[in-house]
Amino acid sequence: MKRFSLCMIIMICMISILLAACGRVADTEESGISDDDKYIVVGLSQVGAESDWRVADSESMKQTFTEEKGYRLLFDDARQKQENQIGAVRKYIQQRVDYIVLMPVGEDGWDSVLQEAKHAGIPVIVVDRMVNVKDSSLVTAHVGADFYSEGKKAVKWIEGRYPSGRNLHIVHIQGTLGSTAQIGRTAALDDALSKHPEWQLLARMDGDFTQAKTYEAMSDYLENAPVRPIIDVVYCENDNEAFGAIEALEAQGYLCGQGGVSVISFDATHDALVAVKNGKLSLCVECNPMLGPLVENVIQEIEAGKVPEKNHYVEEAVFTQYDVTDELLESREY
Ligand code: AHR
Repeated sequence: MKRFSLCMIIMICMISILLAACGRVADTEESGISDDDKYIVVGLSQVGAESDWRVADSESMKQTFTEEKGYRLLFDDARQKQENQIGAVRKYIQQRVDYIVLMPVGEDGWDSVLQEAKHAGIPVIVVDRMVNVKDSSLVTAHVGADFYSEGKKAVKWIEGRYPSGRNLHIVHIQGTLGSTAQIGRTAALDDALSKHPEWQLLARMDGDFTQAKTYEAMSDYLENAPVRPIIDVVYCENDNEAFGAIEALEAQGYLCGQGGVSVISFDATHDALVAVKNGKLSLCVECNPMLGPLVENVIQEIEAGKVPEKNHYVEEAVFTQYDVTDELLESREY
């Protein structure tokens, strides 16, 4: 009997050691992560579903981190709220996931929760936008776009399209304030405005990267302007804002495209490229949402015991009417 109890104690100890070494626990009911899980568990906090880009990006993550490939993906949609994202990251820490993938809504306010992830020994991969943290070691790697250089591409197009010295009347629709995409794209326009005193910023409004909010803001501006404004360029910080702006402009009798208002946008999702082809959108600067495979590369490097590069930027193109062919539209993944 004594011998049997001793065996039991030894067995229990061994199982506990194994579980601890495994490092993945056991909030089985909530997460489906079981003690003997063979999967690489990825806890992902997504901003929301505010744009076509975001929907394509979420899809890319879901198609990449599949069980067939050895992953278990825990996915949380924060509905554009940072507090929801912080809550999701804390939950992932409690669940002791293997990796946290964070797509932050804004740059600030991440120090404490990422410090908690670091204490728990969980690598954090920041995707798409960036975080502004005092201790750079809180971020294992960043995968995303260079938003400032996207903005520079748009500015370069405006400079080429309009003869220098000509007065230009610009309306600027910003993305979610405080997000890296907004900060970079706005900075590029601001730099151009200070370089070109002949460019006049008529209005700047917050479109929050959505079609509905931009339609409202733009309609409000056009309806309440004391005199009908002459507008040359509308600089929208994403495709969905451009759809909302075009809708509002056309409702007020403006012509968009050749001979009318040049509407510019970022992302270059399928429907925006159709609008470029039809001539309603004058320029689309690409922002690639297919980031899943790049995030997977980072995870695989860490799994192989390597230290990944800190920053991973994606290649991005620029589209005008001449670049959008039927073949391109057919093959466009997003
Ligand atoms: O952070 C990337 C931006 O966020 C995309 O341009 C926009 O469409 C999205 O909502």
